[in-house]
Amino acid sequence: MNFLIFAFPVVAFFSGVFFGYSICRKEDEGKNKRLWVRMERRNIMRTINALVSAIDFKDHLTKSHSDKVRQYAGLLAEKMGVPKEEIATIKEACQLHDLGKIGVHDYILTKAGKLTEKEWNEIKSHSLAGAVILKPFHFLSKVVKIVRQHHERYDGGGYPDGIKGDDITLGARIMAVADSYDAMVSKRPYKDPMSIKKAVEEIARNRGKQFDPRVVDIFLKVQAENPELFKNIGDKYSEPRPKE
Ligand SMILES: [Fe+2]
Ligand SMILES: [Fe+2]
Repeated sequence: MNFLIFAFPVVAFFSGVFFGYSICRKEDEGKNKRLWVRMERRNIMRTINALVSAIDFKDHLTKSHSDKVRQYAGLLAEKMGVPKEEIATIKEACQLHDLGKIGVHDYILTKAGKLTEKEWNEIKSHSLAGAVILKPFHFLSKVVKIVRQHHERYDGGGYPDGIKGDDITLGARIMAVADSYDAMVSKRPYKDPMSIKKAVEEIARNRGKQFDPRVVDIFLKVQAENPELFKNIGDKYSEPRPKE
């Protein structure tokens, strides 16, 4: 009996120590795993962003285009009440949306004259190419979807899949407005920049055709209330790239 009185607290003590140790070990393993995943993701994003910079060098006139699209789309998403996490995904997709242009010939990207049908088809391949490049990175699956769909049209006349309406993911519908607006008000090898007034009219004219009407309504509202937010800031754009 005396032995039991002595043994019971000793056994209970060591069991407690062992139990506590295994919990701490499991927590440490979990923390290490999360840290490893974060580091791996950061390194991958650095590599991908380096590829995006390579496109900037290929086509200096579209330099900072991705940054501006990211800024405009982020703003529109915020005004539409999109959840924070989804806004982060949309912004990440904007940064990478034209990545597939890495596979387009330089002479086509910088051609001043009219594109032939073959050249135009090569340009059009970039949204699918971008998605294919990013597909192996599973943590980017939502980003891949937006990149693939960023040239789809609300009326179904876009590419590469010709999907329409709400079948196009919201991020891609938002990005379509931001991307087209920036392309219109920026200089390109084949055109001078369009005035902001004309570009806004063009976005409004394509409400329900190329663009989701809800995104257009928000764009028109925000642009009318605060035109500064959609001023073409050209290559002077200085918002830092997203934290990797
Ligand atoms: Fe594009
Ligand atoms: Fe673009």
